[in-house]
Amino acid sequence: MRKKISIIGAGNVGATAAQFVVQSGIADVVLFDIIEGLPQGKALDLAEACPLWDSPSKIRGTNIFSDTSDSDIVVITAGLARKPGMSRSDLLQANASIIKEVCSEVAKTSPNSIIIVVTNPMDVMAQLAWKITEFSCKRVIGMGGILDSSRLTAFLSLELDISPEDIETIVLGGHGDEMVPLSRFTTVKGIPITELLPKKKIEALIERTRNGGAEIVSLLKSGSAYYAPSASIFHMVKSILLDEKRLLPCAAYLNGEYGIKDLYMGVPVILGKGGVEKVVEIKLTKEEKAQFKKSCKSVRKLIKKLSI
Ligand code: APR
Repeated sequence: MRKKISIIGAGNVGATAAQFVVQSGIADVVLFDIIEGLPQGKALDLAEACPLWDSPSKIRGTNIFSDTSDSDIVVITAGLARKPGMSRSDLLQANASIIKEVCSEVAKTSPNSIIIVVTNPMDVMAQLAWKITEFSCKRVIGMGGILDSSRLTAFLSLELDISPEDIETIVLGGHGDEMVPLSRFTTVKGIPITELLPKKKIEALIERTRNGGAEIVSLLKSGSAYYAPSASIFHMVKSILLDEKRLLPCAAYLNGEYGIKDLYMGVPVILGKGGVEKVVEIKLTKEEKAQFKKSCKSVRKLIKKLSI
C-alpha cells in the first residue's frame, strides 16, 4: 500500500508540495484547507496531471479533518504568509493559534504520524507542535535549514558558474535571518569555498541568503516564496518515506546537543523512517558557537512571548 501524506494548508506552499509528491508517485496525498473548494479544486487539477506524469499517486482535497486520518506524514503549511515589510516573527500570534488547532486534530487523527512543520516562524511553531501533540520529538521536525542551504547553494552556483550539484553547504540555527552558515564546510567538490571566492564575496552571498525570503516577498508584493520551500519539504518527505537516511539541516529538538536544552533549532540530522534518527553534532568554533547561541536566544524570546 502506498503511504499517505496529508498536507494541511492548500495555499502556495501546500499545493506545490502536493504537486512534487504526486509527481514523484511515492505516496498518496490528502490536501486539507479551511477554505471550501480550494483544496478540492487544486487536488482535482493535480489528479488530472498525474496521467501525464505517469504517476500512480492518488490525491484528494478536503475540508474535513478526519479525511487525513492515519497519515504517515503530516506536513503543516497552514497559516499566514509574510507581506512586504513583515518579518517571520510578525506572524507569531496568528499562526500559533492555527498550529494549536491543527496539531490537536493531528494528535487525535494521525497519532503515529511524523509531522513536518513549515508555518512561520517555523522554529517556534515546531516547538509548539511538539508540545501540543506530545509526540516523541523524533516525529516532529521543522523545515528551514534545507531551504537556507539551497538558497546559499543557488547563489554560489550563479556566482561561480558551477553546477549546484557539486556544491555543498550547511546551515545551522534559526530559519532565515538567524541562520548560522558554516563557511568552513562550504565546498565545491571538496574544495573549500575560500579557495574559490574572496571572503567579502562569500559574506555578501551569505547576507543575500539570510534575506532570501524577504527578497522574494518584496518582489512578489503579496505572498511569499513557495517553489524552493516546497522542494525542501519534498526532500524531507522522500528521505523519511524511502528511509534514505540523508543528512539534512532541519529544526530538531535539542536536549543537550550543542549545549542547548529544550529547544527546537536548526541542526544537521539524519532523516529516516523513524523521523529524526540522529542529531549530528559538529564541533563549532568560538565564533560559530556565539552565533548559534544568539540564534537560540531569539527563538527562545518568541517562545516566551507565546508562553509555551
Ligand atoms: N487549517 C487549515 N488551513 C488553514 C488554516 C487552518 N486552521 N488557517 C489557514 N489555512 C490555510 C489558508 O486558507 C491558506 O490556503 O493556509 C493556507 C496558507 O496558504 P498561503 O496564504 O498561500 O501561504 P503559503 O505561501 O502557502 O505559506 C504558508 O508557510 O512558508 C510558510 O511563512 C509561510 O507561514 C506561511 C506558510
